Amino acid sequence: MSRMVLFGPPGAGKGTQGQMLAEHLGIPQIATGDILRAAVKEGSELGRQAKSYMDAGDLVPDGIMVEMIRERLKADDASEGYILDGFPRTVAQAEALDDMLEAIGQTLDAVIHIHVENEVLVERLSGRLLCRDCGATYHTRFSPPAKDRVCDQCGGELYQREDDQEETVRSRLTVFEERTQPLVEYYRRQGIYQKVDGDREPQAVRDAILAALGTD
Ligand code: AP5
Ligand code: MG
Ligand code: ZN
Repeated sequence: MSRMVLFGPPGAGKGTQGQMLAEHLGIPQIATGDILRAAVKEGSELGRQAKSYMDAGDLVPDGIMVEMIRERLKADDASEGYILDGFPRTVAQAEALDDMLEAIGQTLDAVIHIHVENEVLVERLSGRLLCRDCGATYHTRFSPPAKDRVCDQCGGELYQREDDQEETVRSRLTVFEERTQPLVEYYRRQGIYQKVDGDREPQAVRDAILAALGTD
């Protein structure tokens, strides 16, 4: 049983590692950004509320995010643990999550900070490609698909995220530093914070995370 948070700036590899770890550990990856993008695509009320914040690289308001997580954690597949990717992102969200867990007698087991320098993050995000159909992640230089703009796994079309334009990436990095970085202290105080170097091969990052979790 493991309830963990993958923490880190835009482009650190939360999605990449979340996918690998979910497969390895047999628990779901819960990625708030993915849930929001799906809502935008569907054109739901949530999607309409979130879109302008996302396009600007700003955070969606805490109230919306906390309710989203509250609902998602109730699902059956979350009963044996989960990997949170992209939540919490503010101290208010972290406090709300702690309250939610406390109410059912649970706590978080680990918060893993995937650390990568800003120049590398910008490079990663400007080359990122995603599959429209299955969500698989590629990079034009670091992990290119075999065939241009086509997903290796499902043949779907690859696209660039709206918020991966350089100017928006800069805003997202600033938002991370101002609003999300304070969580490092928050979780350090709880004694569950661990930092891993995210600037190496994805497999090596995965192994470092598993070692930090003590499950390798
Ligand atoms: P979200 O989707 O969570 O975006 P993010 O946090 O900015 O992170 P990314 O998904 O961009 O990066 P990642 O760490 O997953 O990296 P990836 O593995 O893809 O959120 C989007 C928006 O939604 C937010 O801006 C906000 O508006 C809203 N939102 C979401 N959650 C919210 C919340 N809780 N509160 C408020 N608002 C919220 O990797 C990046 C690239 O690098 C890829 O191309 C990949 O192939 C490559 N790569 C990965 N690992 C490596 C490696 N080891 N070596 C080389 N390349 C690598
Ligand atoms: Mg992601
Ligand atoms: Zn695909």
